[in-house]
This record gives sequence, C-alpha cells and structure tokens, in this order.
Amino acid sequence: CGIVGYIGYRDVCGVLLDGLKRLEYRGYDSAGIAVLNNKEIEIIKEVGKVSDLERIVSNRAPKGNIGIGHTRWATHGGVSAVNAHPHSDGYKRFVLAHNGIIENYHELKDELSAQGITFASQTDTEVIAHLLYKVYDGNMLNALTYLQSRLRGSYALAILNRDDTDHIYCMRKGSPLVLGQGDGEALCASDIPAILPYTRKVIYMDDGDIAELSPRGIKLWDERGMPIEKKSFFIEWDLSMAEMGGYPHYMLKEIHEQGGVCRATIKGRVHDGKVDLSGELAMDEETIKGFKAIHIVACGTSYYASLIAERVFERWTDLDIKVDIASEYRYRDSKISPDTLVVFVSQSGETADTLAAQRKARESGAYSLAVTNVQGSTLARSCDDFLLLKAGPEIGVAATKTFMGQITSLYLLALYIAKIKGTLSDQKQKELTDEMIQLAYKIETILEREPSIEDLAWKFADYKNFLFLGRGMSFPVALEGALKLKEISYIHAEAYAAGEMKHGPIALIDPNVPVVVVAPKDSLYEKTLSNIQEAKARHAPIIAVGFDGDERLASDADHVLYVPSTLEEFSPFVTVVPLQLFAYHVAKKRGCEIDKPRNLAKSVTVE
Ligand code: G6P
Repeated sequence: CGIVGYIGYRDVCGVLLDGLKRLEYRGYDSAGIAVLNNKEIEIIKEVGKVSDLERIVSNRAPKGNIGIGHTRWATHGGVSAVNAHPHSDGYKRFVLAHNGIIENYHELKDELSAQGITFASQTDTEVIAHLLYKVYDGNMLNALTYLQSRLRGSYALAILNRDDTDHIYCMRKGSPLVLGQGDGEALCASDIPAILPYTRKVIYMDDGDIAELSPRGIKLWDERGMPIEKKSFFIEWDLSMAEMGGYPHYMLKEIHEQGGVCRATIKGRVHDGKVDLSGELAMDEETIKGFKAIHIVACGTSYYASLIAERVFERWTDLDIKVDIASEYRYRDSKISPDTLVVFVSQSGETADTLAAQRKARESGAYSLAVTNVQGSTLARSCDDFLLLKAGPEIGVAATKTFMGQITSLYLLALYIAKIKGTLSDQKQKELTDEMIQLAYKIETILEREPSIEDLAWKFADYKNFLFLGRGMSFPVALEGALKLKEISYIHAEAYAAGEMKHGPIALIDPNVPVVVVAPKDSLYEKTLSNIQEAKARHAPIIAVGFDGDERLASDADHVLYVPSTLEEFSPFVTVVPLQLFAYHVAKKRGCEIDKPRNLAKSVTVE
C-alpha cells in the first residue's frame, strides 16, 4: 500500500492525487483521500485505480490544505470502496491511512465490539481509528503512545484529527514512512517519489517513532513519548528520474536505462584493474579476511540476482556460500556465526521478509550488509554496512534496472573480497574489471535491437505456456526471464536448469510449448545444445539467446536473439536484456497493464 499526507498552503487534493499516482506501483486495487477543513473531514474513496478516484474527485474536490491519501493492495478485507482507506472511527473525528497488518486486530475488535462499537469495514485498519477515538482525552501524544503499546504487527499510519486543524500525525512500526520538510509545508509518504516535487529534504521514521507535521516543521517522539531529534537526508534523485520521459511505460524506460545503471554502479569503484570499496563499506580488511562464509538472502528478482552472484562468489572467493529466499531463511536453522557475512539484497530495502531475515542474522552475531537502491531504507539502516546500486528510482513493478544494479554491485563486492582475501591474481582481476567496464556498451547494443525482439514477441504472444532453460550462469537468467513473462503478461512460464528438464518438464513439451533457451557460448554450451535437441525432438518451437556470430545456434533453434559476447561470468548482464524486452512486448501485444500487473506490489511490506 502507499500513503501520502500533506499540510501546507497548496490545494491539498492536487498534491494527494499526484502523490498517489507516484505511489500507485505499491498497490492499486482501490484508493482514497481525506481532507480536513473547518473542523470537518471529507473522505472520498473508490475501487480501481487512482485515475478512477481522480475522476470522482474532479467533480467535487474538497477544498483545504491538509489531507491524507492511500492506495491499497488488499490484505484484510476484499476489494471494495468500504474497505478502501482512509478509515474513520464512525464520527469522523479521527481519519487515518494505514500500510501494514495489525496482527492482533481480532482481539482489539472483540474488545471494542464488547463496548458496543460497530464496524463499517472488514479491515484491520478501522480498529485503530476506533481505538484512538476511545482513548483520546485531548492529548494526541498520549493517545498515540497508547496505540504504540497496543498495536501488534506492522504499520505506517498518517492520521488526521478533526479538532486539530494544524497537524498531521504519523506513526511507524515495520512499514516504511518518509517525512518531507518543505518551506511552509510538510509531507509524509511511503516512498520518496511522492515527496520529490515539493522537497528533497527528508527524514526517515524508525520503528516506534511518532511524528507531528505542521507547516512550521516536524516534531518527533519515541514510542514512550520522549522527544527525539533525527538527522535529515538530502535526496540526490531528481524529479525527472521518477517520470516517464517520453516512454510509453516505466518498465521500458527502465530497461533502456540499464547501460547507464551498470556504468553508474561501477563508476569510482574500479581503479587500475581492481575494485575498491574501502571508501564506502564500513567493513575493514581484517573483518573481510575473517569471513569464512557468506549467505545471500533476498526475495523475487533480487533472489535471482543473488543466485547469479552465488556462482561468481564460488568461483572467485574461498567463502562457503549459501543463497536463500528471505521468507525461508528467517525460519530455518542455518548455521550463522560471527564469521558469516550475510548480504541482504533488496531494491527497496523495505521487504518485510528480508527485514525479518536481517533481524535473525543480527541476533546470531553475523555481519550484515545491505545491497540496496535506497540509502535511507530500513534495511540499509539496520545492517552493519550497506552498498548502493545507484539505479535511480524504479517505478515499474517488474524489476529490471535494479536487477542490473544488483548484479553489478554484487560482482563488485565479490571482486573486492577476492582482492582482499588474495583469491584472484592481479591479472585475472584486471581481465574481469576491464570486461565489466565494457558491459554498459554491450547492453546498449542489445537495446538497439529491440525491433527484432518486438517482432518475435508478437509471434509468440498467444501461447499459453513457456518453458525457460539455462545452465550454470544462465540458469538464474532463465528463472528471471520466466518471472518477467509471467508477472506482466500472465502467461504461465516455468524455468528449469536445462539438465533437469528430463526429470519432469519434458513431459509438458509439445508444439504448443515454446522453449526459451539461454545458450551463451560458455563452458556448458555443448550440453545446452543437447537440451535444445531434446526439446526440438518433441516439436517445441525453440527461441535461443546466444552470442553474436554463433551460427550453430541458428541452425538448431527456430529463432535466435543475439547479444554481444562476453566472458562466461558476465553473460547474465547481456542475456537477461532480450528476455526483459521479450516479456515487455508480449505483455504489450496482449494489452496488459505493464507497469502495474494485477495482484503484485512493488514493495511487499507485509509477511
Ligand atoms: C516484489 C516486487 C519484485 C521484487 C520483490 C523483492 O515482489 O514485485 O519486483 O523483486 O518484491 O523486492 P525488493 O525490494 O526486496 O528487491
């Protein structure tokens, strides 16, 4: 879900709707706003997209300069206007927008019901409004500290009080909330793009924090109600980075930015054929030399980026490596010790499972490192260390350029650790870093070939099932290619390690199941070709991704998407790009909602 709140001198409806559009990638099944004016709060909410809400608001826009808004991704309670946020206590004294899940809402609801309170919606959020109404005695801070002590689960809250026309109140535990301090105005939002048009000075709330926003400034307290001071951050991103810039979709724009992301992520970090991260990582050489194991933990696309990194960490370093999905890692009994480096890979730095896995690693005494795109994110602030991927804001729900930023950052980390541990010769480091610098150009060459990828996508847009295959470095690429296709085009796509195909998926193969094979000319190339033959023998249409000049592939596959050749280790940087474009154009041909696929959220801040 996405929250936005504004207090200042502007017409608040415009600010809220603009903010919600910028946050819509976080949830888009319903949306709503509430405006406080003259000790009255007007609420308008609607099922559907922010543009549906906008249509209704445009006919009867409430006047005012204070308000909150919300775009929802349903958890408790189905998708309906009643369940959309903001919610109120029934008397519209308190109106609030919530992101997260209140785990003890049943218990609270029973308690309130026993006192005769009735509920309008099926949400966990409404309980908070009623509870607030019940305990409020004229002192907002007391009421909010009481709430902090009663609510279990996760929440970011923006709250209006009908009788307090000079403030918006915010609380956070477990779900992100950023505060923006402008000149004569203040904002709160789930993510930075909603704040950027007004100010680049932000404060990140921490768990337990309570905030009071007014046009004159922001006050903060901890969960016991003690005043606190917090440092503000200046956001480097500018507004144009969070806008479409002439592309029809954010996803396409972001795919096209990948050469730049690779370049920006490497910039200033490679010197004389060696990677140097000493200026930005807190870990010193002694600490690095002491690491015996590395765990990499992530979700979704970030997990696939981690699987690629796994393969270079095992080649280049002497670390014992393990990669896991955060929602599994957090409940497993992995052996984590102080000489384990646990790397958490998360674009947003706010994914609930990844944060929980981080808490577990910290409790086990491991050294934790966040690899993230958001410097002020909860993950970056909770880990011992962080490494930025420098991808700029990613708005399309299907991750593309942050994947590129993640693999680039993880490769830099692997090379840096290898240098310090002495597991790669100077010559090898030079060969690898020289090639790494070339990757941005190679990615840009592939982007120029988009028209042929689009043609192919149009030919295949009506198939119902796809199988993606790859070996070695290309297996995680196949996983990511299949994920992109299913996320945005809703076509069933499965990915397998090519050698594993014979143990099951081969039963599915027939002329109606295209097989996409990631087949760069690497040490496993011949084996992958055999798998192509096996699929071909069962009459599957074959689409291969291979290196320029590979004619043999052209004779074996029905279609080949060529990419510039590179060293085996780096093949994912080039092979993933045509698969992203293929998924994009298939989804476009099918008329799908590319930037906001159904049921998905950009940042999953609930378990
Ligand atoms: C969601 C997004 C994915 C993303 C995953 C992990 O599922 O839709 O694109 O890969 O979360 O997000 P993170 O911010 O932790 O990388």
